[in-house]
Amino acid sequence: MTHCMLAAVSLLIGCGALRMSSGISSNHGVSPGIDLEEKYLHLVEMAVTGSLIDEAGRCNGGEGGCALNKLAPYDKSLRELGNDWPPFGHTMVGHVRLHNIRFALQDVIDHNVSGDFAELGVWRGGTCIYAKAFLDIKGQASRRVHVFDAFEKIPGYGGNSDFLMNSEADVKHNFDKYQVFDDHVHFYKGLFKDTVPSFQGQLAVLRIDSNFYDSYQDALYYLYPKVPVGGIVIFDDVMSHAAVMQCWKDFKNDQGLPEDLTRIDHHSAWFRKTVAIDVDFKHFKPPRDANKL
Ligand SMILES: C[S@@+](CC[C@H](N)C(=O)[O-])C[C@H]1O[C@@H](n2cnc3c(N)ncnc32)[C@H](O)[C@@H]1O
Repeated sequence: MTHCMLAAVSLLIGCGALRMSSGISSNHGVSPGIDLEEKYLHLVEMAVTGSLIDEAGRCNGGEGGCALNKLAPYDKSLRELGNDWPPFGHTMVGHVRLHNIRFALQDVIDHNVSGDFAELGVWRGGTCIYAKAFLDIKGQASRRVHVFDAFEKIPGYGGNSDFLMNSEADVKHNFDKYQVFDDHVHFYKGLFKDTVPSFQGQLAVLRIDSNFYDSYQDALYYLYPKVPVGGIVIFDDVMSHAAVMQCWKDFKNDQGLPEDLTRIDHHSAWFRKTVAIDVDFKHFKPPRDANKL
């Protein structure tokens, strides 16, 4: 079943690429009314969220956070909002937050905001894979995708650390399976405190999904300045993790950001950068969670 699904994805990638490279804007050789771009993006969305195979079910606790002998039935409404963990999916953010990534990328394309896509905290890489698929199919392959993660167990995740850990090799393999791994995808392995300070580049869309105060603080202090005015910053856990909300409030108040957050779902929110503010490191707080362990 998985093999057939991947073959279908490959077929659609091929058709989309043909359409882009030949400059043909109609669905050449395809039944009228069939939009291959939309079908391709939908298929990638269904695959990365683990929504293609109902029998795969959803995590239901147990050893490591997702014991395979304890799985519960697939529930479309939970997966929609990222309110469950997919045992075999490549992202846990659900459909609505993927639509937000699509909106953000389309927005910066439409408004000619230059820069790349970065995610800090990628787990199995599904949101970055989706972003890369979107950029490729929209003729924006020159925008790079930056993939930041520890790619090793983080003690702060306690009993869930097995499930939340992934190796860099596994995530690269996932990119390969979707045929979206090329020279415009860059990996940064290690705690953010060690990887973000030396980052060079511009980020049209910055997505942070890393649960801890220290992780968000490192991301904001070092990468907010890399987002141009008009760029979009997305926080995955800000509405559901008190430490993340505290980090956002501290950063906003200490640095004087005028923007407010727009809610996406129960967990997440985003803002569009409206003014460029020089970050003052004198407000940087000492380690309290991820960097203290
Ligand atoms: C909830 S998962 C990310 C989910 C992912 N965005 C998705 O689409 O499913 C959180 C990730 O953040 C990473 N992480 C958290 N804090 C980090 C830090 N300070 N440095 C590096 N990685 C971190 C963890 O390794 C983990 O992969």
